[in-house]
Amino acid sequence: MLNIILFGPPGAGKGTQSQQLKEKYNLTYLSTGDILREEMAAETEIGKKVKDIISKGGLVSDEIVVSIIRGRVEANQKSAGFLFDGFPRTVRQAEMLDGIMNEFSLKINAVLSLEVPEEILINRMIERGKTSGRADDNIDSIKHRFVEYNEKTKPVLAYYEKQGNLKGIDGVGKVEDIFATLCNEIDKISKK
Ligand code: AP5
Ligand code: MG
Repeated sequence: MLNIILFGPPGAGKGTQSQQLKEKYNLTYLSTGDILREEMAAETEIGKKVKDIISKGGLVSDEIVVSIIRGRVEANQKSAGFLFDGFPRTVRQAEMLDGIMNEFSLKINAVLSLEVPEEILINRMIERGKTSGRADDNIDSIKHRFVEYNEKTKPVLAYYEKQGNLKGIDGVGKVEDIFATLCNEIDKISKK
């Protein structure tokens, strides 16, 4: 089984690269951002709870996202592997994910971290905001997403560095070139 975390700041290209990665490696794709947006669109209890937080660019509680992830991992244990996008986003989430992986006798094989300078990220998201309909693709929410990222999410990198699982990937350039670099890393890992 191949379990990968695609890590990166807002707008780094996690969603874009995941679309191709999940196809190529036949992975169960778990994007907490996409799942939460589905909950909001369906106006579920969770959706109603997270709507304001997400539109302002804040982080949803660890309990909500971890319980979503646990449910999806439990339901897909026969999968060829998992591709996590936008999760874990706090050190506590990373610790809880380790707990879930242990519970199902699984492990994280790699954390691939897309690295892109903040100015480029802001431009990408402002540009996308013209058509995306995402409530958080506006300058105020984007700024707050970076505050949350720098304070709460960046420390997750050190957590995986310690585990020896972290690999930085240059996330600037053509989508297909970045995809090739990611595949190269994954192929190295799966041969181990
Ligand atoms: P989430 O949906 O995860 O959003 P995000 O991390 O802010 O990142 P994005 O989805 O905006 O960017 P991306 O890295 O996927 O890049 P993309 O491929 O789209 O989370 C949203 C919210 O949900 C959070 O703020 C939080 O409130 C909540 N949430 C989610 N998970 C949570 C968790 N675990 N804990 C707590 N709260 C959570 O690309 C961006 C743009 O750039 C696109 O327009 C794309 O076309 C373009 N692009 C991509 N690659 C390139 C390239 N190489 N060159 C030029 N343009 C490119
Ligand atoms: Mg995304």
